[in-house]
Amino acid sequence: MRYQVRIRQFLDRIMSDMSGSKTLKASSSSSPWGSTQSGAPTLKSVARILQDDYPNPIKNIVIMAGAGISTASGIPDFRSPKTGLYANLKKYNLPYPEAIFDIDYFREKPQPFYTLSKEMWPSHFKPTLTHSFFKLLDDKKKLLRVFTQNIDTLERLAGLSEDRIVEAHGSFAQSRCIRCKKEVEQDWIRDKVMAGEVAYCPHSSCQKVQFKSSNKNACLVKPDIVFFGEGLPDKFFQSLNDLKKADLLIVVGTSLQVHPFASLVNHVAPNCPRILLNLERVGEIASYGQTGSGMRGLMNENGFDFEGWTLPSDKGKEHIRDVFWEGKCDEGVIQLAKELGWEEELRNLHKETCKQLNVNNDTKAENNDETLKEAEKEADKVANDLTDQIAKLNVSKKEEDQSEIKSTSQNPSESKGKTGPSSL
Ligand code: OAD
Repeated sequence: MRYQVRIRQFLDRIMSDMSGSKTLKASSSSSPWGSTQSGAPTLKSVARILQDDYPNPIKNIVIMAGAGISTASGIPDFRSPKTGLYANLKKYNLPYPEAIFDIDYFREKPQPFYTLSKEMWPSHFKPTLTHSFFKLLDDKKKLLRVFTQNIDTLERLAGLSEDRIVEAHGSFAQSRCIRCKKEVEQDWIRDKVMAGEVAYCPHSSCQKVQFKSSNKNACLVKPDIVFFGEGLPDKFFQSLNDLKKADLLIVVGTSLQVHPFASLVNHVAPNCPRILLNLERVGEIASYGQTGSGMRGLMNENGFDFEGWTLPSDKGKEHIRDVFWEGKCDEGVIQLAKELGWEEELRNLHKETCKQLNVNNDTKAENNDETLKEAEKEADKVANDLTDQIAKLNVSKKEEDQSEIKSTSQNPSESKGKTGPSSL
């Protein structure tokens, strides 16, 4: 346990150095929410600094997102006590819930992950209002980056460009062999997953290895999801500088239990306002953190300070930098959009996005229908050809029979030996 805490502190230190936050100094004069802030900040304060006519308009929002933003689309989160994925994995007989995303366990027993992937495969789901809110912020030139822990690709489906998103824990968007690292066709892996099969590398070099080796699992194919025991993608580390540029941090739908992602909260500038939209209060300073093994760990040295515990005694509540909004994030973003006069725009954008995805799915289905029709046509053609050939054979057989009848009548004993199965 102490070892895990040490690793976390070490990662925090590295990331602090990388994001350069050590060189930044807190502004001592005004509130992080602007000079007109009075009392503790709220959702209204967030709306106020987002207004276009605000003196220093916000244009570099950084978002940190977790599984809670996708639950409204039907994907369970991980750690909610009854509904979360980890509470519902009994059927997989795992030694511990996170094993389903553990690289060593996967190498040994890939089937549970494949079975789960069938349920989680992204094409089944649509973005939520929260995803569309991210897109709206982008359309309004206020969004710098979305750091997401989600593997469901719903940020992409909401219309955000790949450039805007950092999928810190990877995604289902690509898959590759764990040995040769070659990417496989998305349709190929999807078919395997949908058939409930474990996928092995189809490339020839790996086929030979599989044939020779007793360890077939050496060439497993795995979606580019970051498993426990694997490193985060380069893009995550390359994008850490964004935190330094952030003028508002929105943290949404995450328990902030998994590091190093969770520690990003601490790497925005000390005066950067931060808001947490979540069903529960998480990531607070002076709260108990949870270690990777699920055990209660030491007090957090960093994190949100919603109450202003760390404020110098001469500072009023308006200097509290963190806001906690408790509830479902879709309701939170609607409330925020209402304050900003964007509600209709947000709802229309979301409706339009879902409609477009339906059209795309229908087109895919139509394409599948077309393929089916072509296959049927081909089958009909083969059947017709066969009927023709059989008809021709029948004609020539009839002619043969007739000539045989003629010859049998000339030589009966010989014909007995030549015709009919019973003679064999
Ligand atoms: P968690 O399941 O740990 O946390 C989800 C958080 O969202 C919880 O605090 C919930 O209370 C909250 N929540 C759920 N539904 C919500 C809603 N509609 N509105 C607002 N809040 C809601 O998920 P993450 O923090 O994303 O790793 O988990 C982090 C990582 O742990 C995941 O990326 C995953 C997992 O192991 C991999 O997939 C590799």
